[in-house]
Formats: sequence, structure tokens, C-alpha cells
Amino acid sequence: MAKSASAFTCTACGTAHKKWAGRCDACGAWNTIIEEAPLSRGPGRGLGAAKGHSIPLAGLTSDEPAPPRAQSGMAELDRVLGGGLVPGSAILVGGDPGIGKSTLLLQAAAAFARVELNAIYISGEEASAQVRMRARRLGLSDAPMRLGAETNLRDILTTLDQERPDLAIIDSVQTLWADHVEAAPGSVAQVRAAAHELVTFAKRRGVAVILVGHVTKDGQIAGPRVVEHMVDTVLYFEGERGHQFRILRSVKNRFGPADEIGVFEMTGAGLAEVANPSALFLSERGQPVPGSAVFAGIEGTRPVLTEIQALVAPSNLASPRRTVVGLDSGRVSTIIAVLEARCGIPFAGLDVFLNVAGGMRVNEPAADLAIAGALLSAREDSAFPPEAVLFGEISLSGALRPVAGVENRLKEAQKLGFSQAIIPEGQKLEGLDGISVMRIADLTGFVGELFGAG
Ligand code: TYD
Ligand code: MG
Repeated sequence: MAKSASAFTCTACGTAHKKWAGRCDACGAWNTIIEEAPLSRGPGRGLGAAKGHSIPLAGLTSDEPAPPRAQSGMAELDRVLGGGLVPGSAILVGGDPGIGKSTLLLQAAAAFARVELNAIYISGEEASAQVRMRARRLGLSDAPMRLGAETNLRDILTTLDQERPDLAIIDSVQTLWADHVEAAPGSVAQVRAAAHELVTFAKRRGVAVILVGHVTKDGQIAGPRVVEHMVDTVLYFEGERGHQFRILRSVKNRFGPADEIGVFEMTGAGLAEVANPSALFLSERGQPVPGSAVFAGIEGTRPVLTEIQALVAPSNLASPRRTVVGLDSGRVSTIIAVLEARCGIPFAGLDVFLNVAGGMRVNEPAADLAIAGALLSAREDSAFPPEAVLFGEISLSGALRPVAGVENRLKEAQKLGFSQAIIPEGQKLEGLDGISVMRIADLTGFVGELFGAG
């Protein structure tokens, strides 16, 4: 039987399939399976011929101290990396096209170069002259870094081999082209092969490699997902186009905590660090308005206050709108269902719009109470006291569950001038002056306390 000349790969999760299908059974995504030339295989080797050896763990720790992390001096970046760049690590920075990845990484390369790391930035998208022009505009002309414009993987590896940098930034994986793989640049096969070679190179030579990958929200462009498994650290650079804030978020980190965020602001002269994001996210607050609740959240190790905004209006649609930006819409539906079932507050016939101010994304379950608060405040047309923050997880029974990091949340709230906190009853809390705490057992109690009903 003739061997099939092509294979099918899901562009979202990288799973190989024997035949085309509308839906990938591995990840459940629709219309993501594409046809590709199969990966070329080397000649098979018997087990006996394989090279392999092991080393004792104990010996490793005693005489080989871990090389120090390099700090770029961009505090927001260093924190997201888990305290600095680990030599020989492989990092993927993903994000929507145009969000500012190239800008961020050019600035990062310059920052590392200024602390005497030998850094090289290789662009597959722009010519060296263009990158230079961008660098000049960003005020980085004097940074002792090197630039390259190359897409051929073999040439890139040769360059890295000769120049022995400490840090190589490859912008982007979708432009790389490995000549031993018969597929177009940007295809899963190419991205996977190129990323694999670069990661292997990073480990073998102790060169830190940062790969840039474009993703779209619906995962239409092949790639970064299959690279996520290969690298040590995955960072996503996110933000809304209309807002100037950009958030660098670690979603996987072998060398530090995940879920850490760094906040930047896109300015005319590149990305500026935002040291106090809470102040920034709350800066547009004016008079107290119904539908606004301030959530005292934690992103990674750092407390961040955000404003959750709701609008509830009569609907003329058979199935009313539920428009949610910056929050998990499943979570919001659950909270609405709990309000209906446990507190008898109907949302049927009402359009609901929810939004996190400033283009921030909030994924913590601790935000439940603030979401419920914003919804109720909008529905009852009654504003929260402007000096209050909220947090707490809502269970399906309507009870409020304690959350982690309460001291951090409250200290941040206090720092920003809030004097009242509404928190779950079971929350343990050790001595904190200057902030009055209202403890709530369940949603019915919450409605009763704050909206005089329930
Ligand atoms: P870029 O870094 O090229 O995005 P990516 O590499 O993720 O595709 O950034 C593109 C956007 O950033 C572009 O729309 C213009 C904006 N920008 C600024 O606002 N200020 C600047 O100094 C720079 C360099 C870019
Ligand atoms: Mg770019």
C-alpha cells in the first residue's frame, strides 16, 4: 500500500490526525486541522546504539551552583520572569499581532545589553535598517546589542554558534524556515521544527532564547500552542487595542511563579513600566456611580485593584444580552444563576453588560463578590460606598468562601485610600488597623446588608 504523502495537524494543539476532520478530537477546536507534508524521520536506530547516561542528583547541587539570574533593570519584566533571566532557558512570548511584542523585546534586549549581557535580536519580519530605526525612535541607539535580520534557521544557528550570545531573541517563530522540513514558514511543522532546534541549542550552549509568537484569539495562526510544551516559560503579552495598557503575564514558568504580571503603558517612545497598576486602573474613577465595584485582587504575587463595571438594562430580545469583557463569561452566568436561585433576584428580560475598567483581565474566583456587587448595584440603581473594596468566592449555594492573600489585598486597598472592605465571614484576618471590615456569610446577607432587601 502506498504511504500517504501528507498528514493532518491541528493548528491549535498540534495533534496529528490521519485524516481531515472539521473538529479536532484532542482539543475540541473547530476548523483548525490543516494538511501538511509529514515530518521527515531519520533512520531508525536500535536501542543498543542509543547514547544515554545518567548522573547523580546529589553531585549536581553541591559543586555546580546555579548560575545567577540576569536582571534587566526593567522591574516589570524581571518579576514576570520569576526574578530575572535564567541562563540557558527558553521563553516564548505570545500575543496578538501589533500588540507590542517587538517593541517590548527590543527594549528588553537593550536593557539586558546595558547590564553587560551579550544580547542579539534577530528579526525575521523587518530588515536590520528598520529595526535600527525603531531602536533609535525608542532611544536605544547607544545600547551595546547586536541586530540580525534572518529567517533561515540554519543561518540563525550558525550566527548564534559563532557569536555565542548570552541572550538571543527570535522575532518571530512564524517567520522561521528550516530547510529540512517541506512546509511553508508559519506552518505547524516548520514552527515545531524550528522551535525544537532553537530550544535544544539553548540548553546545550547555555544561551537564553526568547521566541516571539503571534497568536490570534481564535488560534487561527499556527504555532505558539505547539511551542508552549517545549519551552520553560510562556509569557503572553495582552491588552486591548483601544487602551494603552499592556500586560505581560506568565502562564507557565519552570523557574518562578506562574500568573505573575508586569504592567506596561504604550507611549510614543515605546513601552513604559507601570510600577503602581492599581492607581492606573482606578484613575478614571470620579463620582460614585451605580454598577461600579472595586475588586481587591491578586495577580501572581502582587495585589492589583480593579474596577468592575456593570450595566443592567431592560431588553427587548427573546434571549437577553450577556456581554462580558475582561471576565470569564461562564463565571458571570453562574453568578447570575446564583443570584436568581438563592436570592430571588431575576435577571430575565434584562440585558447585562460587564466590563473590567482599563482593559485588564480578571480570572480569579475571588472576584465573584465584586461581580455580584456590580450587578446588584446596577440593577438596584444604588452606588456602593466609594471607599469600599470587595472580594470573596461565591459557591453554588450562595455561601461566600474565603480567599488567599487577604492581608496583601487589604494593604493595597489601604494604600490607595480605601477604608472599608467587604469580605467573606470565614476569612481569617490578623490585626489590620485603619480599614473597617464587613463580614458577609452569604449572598442573601450581602443583598440585605447593602441593598436593604433579600
Ligand atoms: P509592535 O511591537 O510592532 O507589535 P508586534 O511585534 O506585537 O506585532 O508594535 C506595534 C504597535 O505599537 C504599533 O501599532 C505602534 C505601536 N507603537 C507605539 O505606540 N509606540 C512606539 O514607540 C512603538 C515602537 C510602537
Ligand atoms: Mg513584531
